[in-house]
Amino acid sequence: MGKSFDIGLERLTGTGVPRIGETQDGGVKPPLHNAGRQEAGATLVASFEEKNRTLKGAGCGTHDSEGSTFYLETFGCQMNDHDSEKVAGLLLARGYRQVDGPEAAKVILYNTCSIREKAAQKVFSRLGELRPADEQDGKSFNTEDTEREHRVHRDGRVLEKNHPSQRKIVNAGGGKIIGVLGCVAQQEGEGIFERAPWVSLVCGSASYRKLPQLIAELEAGNRRVTGLDTDTDETFETEITRRDNPWRAYLTIIEGCDKACSYCVVPFTRGPERSRASASILEEVRRLAEAGYSEVQLLGQTVNSYADPSARKMRFSELLAAVAEVRGIRRVRFTTSHPRDFGKDIVEAIEAHPTLCDHVHLPVQSGSTAVLRAMARTYSREEYLEKIGLMKAARRPISITTDMIVGFPGETEKDFEATLALLDEVQYDSVFAFKYSPRPNTPSLKMADAIPEEEKGRRLAILMDRQREIQRVRNERTVGETFEVLVDGKSRRENQWSGHTSSNRVLNFTSPEQELLGDYVQVKVVSAMPNSLVGEMVGRA
Ligand code: 5AD
Ligand code: SF4
Repeated sequence: MGKSFDIGLERLTGTGVPRIGETQDGGVKPPLHNAGRQEAGATLVASFEEKNRTLKGAGCGTHDSEGSTFYLETFGCQMNDHDSEKVAGLLLARGYRQVDGPEAAKVILYNTCSIREKAAQKVFSRLGELRPADEQDGKSFNTEDTEREHRVHRDGRVLEKNHPSQRKIVNAGGGKIIGVLGCVAQQEGEGIFERAPWVSLVCGSASYRKLPQLIAELEAGNRRVTGLDTDTDETFETEITRRDNPWRAYLTIIEGCDKACSYCVVPFTRGPERSRASASILEEVRRLAEAGYSEVQLLGQTVNSYADPSARKMRFSELLAAVAEVRGIRRVRFTTSHPRDFGKDIVEAIEAHPTLCDHVHLPVQSGSTAVLRAMARTYSREEYLEKIGLMKAARRPISITTDMIVGFPGETEKDFEATLALLDEVQYDSVFAFKYSPRPNTPSLKMADAIPEEEKGRRLAILMDRQREIQRVRNERTVGETFEVLVDGKSRRENQWSGHTSSNRVLNFTSPEQELLGDYVQVKVVSAMPNSLVGEMVGRA
């Protein structure tokens, strides 16, 4: 597939956290990013096309749309990234070819995120770039990328996952199909057609199975098509997934969210919780291991609320143990966990299975019980700290990371101080921090005592400073220690490599070896920064 399968380095540096500020717990792939490797000027030499071919198997021979091309750009969390891997798999199986820019594509798809206002704005900025020359409807589009995520993460993740800041305006004429997928699609629905009449397809994540059919309808002459149901009990499984990372495979085990945090759009955009049967998950993990993936990451907005729909009724902790025991799998990650469903059994599973990584992402959102109540998070500060206590008492150290929101309506200076004190108490290894962003349909939209933007910014800066210092000290303590690292980046500079530890720290290191990508090696830490470690290879794992 040539260039279209090149993976940007940033796609390999994701952690278990929801991303670009979009976590899993909100997903977020979480918000996926990178820093340490960028520092090292790393480039990626990927050899995973072969694996993709293996995984695709015979199924991709259906050439319904032979010759057609698609461009797919993804915003937001790891869930979105993985959904895009599956969407790409679906289209490739139908004979489409993926291209790396909208100019050359017949079908242009944006898989969108709406967790915060700025993330949602991004797609309209992209759509503005596609406005046909003859569209004179006077609507204004912001074509600037204004999104700036604020987080202190040891990955030092990049802000802009897919694209450089200089962007071309593409004229969408010439019979291109332009589609909006994901959370903005679900949230704005047909309103997107009003705002950007050159869009012809709007499809939420619960309807992706219908995508090929929707595209076929457009090709048959329909002007506009939508897939916006969320009342499905299906999960989005496909035979073929075009995986971006040659060593780490993502697997969604639960979709949607039944929690009702008062600030969050996810229950609206991704629908109710639907879990995938344990046997089907384990079968896929076995296939992935056979295809050469050594790390799997189990995904869900609230991954530990997993409820096996099959007669086997595996608990989440049992599923973790079963995945950990699959031959060939060396690392198992999971994200994002909700504190309410986080119990001792999960910690015991981690203790019993070294294959389960020693990292838990447990979003707290606030250190104040009053704010937590207003957020409808279902736990108090003390109850959250009990869960932290379970991990701190574990037989091996577990790295803990979190998400926090500052400036929630009514958050007093005292509440904010309680959040800062929580940082000191828990000693997180990484924190994703966000300014509260009012979202459509959410209960917190109507809450009194909104905090001014400027004050939110002040609190965010204070929180990040405090956390940066905590990470500096914590990382410095690792100097002299040796960690097992999965090597996933190679620098342009000679002998420079990078990888992740089981605790998901980024470790940049030197080694004279010629080929290490995808290998597990032992690296001794020689110096530390707040967001990454520097070391030298001392042996093979
Ligand atoms: N404003 C700010 N941050 C939010 N998050 C979710 N909704 C909002 C919002 N309305 C954050 C939470 C969640 C992460 C994925 O995004 O911290 O854990
Ligand atoms: Fe996470 Fe709460 Fe949003 Fe569900 S509603 S995705 S638990 S923040």
